Amino acid sequence: MTVIIDGKKVAEDIRRQVREEAARLKESQSIVPGLAVVLVGEDPASQAYVRMKGKGCEEVGIRSLQHRLGAQTTQGELLSLIGELNRNGEVHGILVQLPLPAHIDEKSVINAIDPAKDVDGFHPVNVGKMVIGEEDGMLPCTPLGCQELIARYASPLGGKHLVIVGRSNIVGKPLANMMVQKQPRANCVVTVCHTAAADIGYFTRQADILVVAAGRPGTVSASMVKEGAVIIDVGSNRVPHPDDPSRSRFVGDVDFEGVSRVATAITPVPGGVGPMTIAMLLKNTMKACGLQTAVSR
Ligand code: GUN
Repeated sequence: MTVIIDGKKVAEDIRRQVREEAARLKESQSIVPGLAVVLVGEDPASQAYVRMKGKGCEEVGIRSLQHRLGAQTTQGELLSLIGELNRNGEVHGILVQLPLPAHIDEKSVINAIDPAKDVDGFHPVNVGKMVIGEEDGMLPCTPLGCQELIARYASPLGGKHLVIVGRSNIVGKPLANMMVQKQPRANCVVTVCHTAAADIGYFTRQADILVVAAGRPGTVSASMVKEGAVIIDVGSNRVPHPDDPSRSRFVGDVDFEGVSRVATAITPVPGGVGPMTIAMLLKNTMKACGLQTAVSR
């Protein structure tokens, strides 16, 4: 029987751990972790994500500071706010919701965040630490969520062939770097394939663990999967509802119905990787808080 991986349940388990850790920190040292989330503009999807992040913080005892700036905010104004948040001792994590309006340079904004507070793990210092396997850096949330599911559903991992479809800076590239490390929750043989591959199936059929983060529905079908593989579908694509085109629904990058007949375990969309991302953001905020307060003790 194929296991349908319940990302909501695993995410709730992580949130419970964070809640307990935050309570201990408050009790023993009177420290309340703080996460600042910055939103520029009125994009409805981004507004919804920011609300969910704020709610997630409140539920686990992390102080949430939300900065909602108008779409006309200049890059200078945004950088000045980041500078203030970098200096604010009550803020342990900073997240600037992406995408930013076109007149603001994303790279300059990411580079301005103190790497110690970079709970997205996007700052080049953290990317460098990730590549060399330093454990005191911040790792990006979606790959962390994938790693958690892989460790729970595909262990032991040593020597397994992990194939990743997609080479984004947010998922494919960081996950490959994390999973190739000589560490207990990694140690995989990793292949990254992408749109330039003439035959993606040639690679995916070799996977013991297959992560698909291509951003395109139907990227992987049953004939592209080895019997018994574990499938992690990072895709989240809004498509017209088959019964009513005036409505929409979310699907992943994998043909769930076909592939679930071949796989031993598979994440659904929604309810797989999605819920893990915010849980790992909360966990990252705790880590950032722990590292910063340990330094100042
Ligand atoms: N927008 C969509 N996903 C993300 C994310 O993981 N971090 C940030 N900062 N913005 C996003």
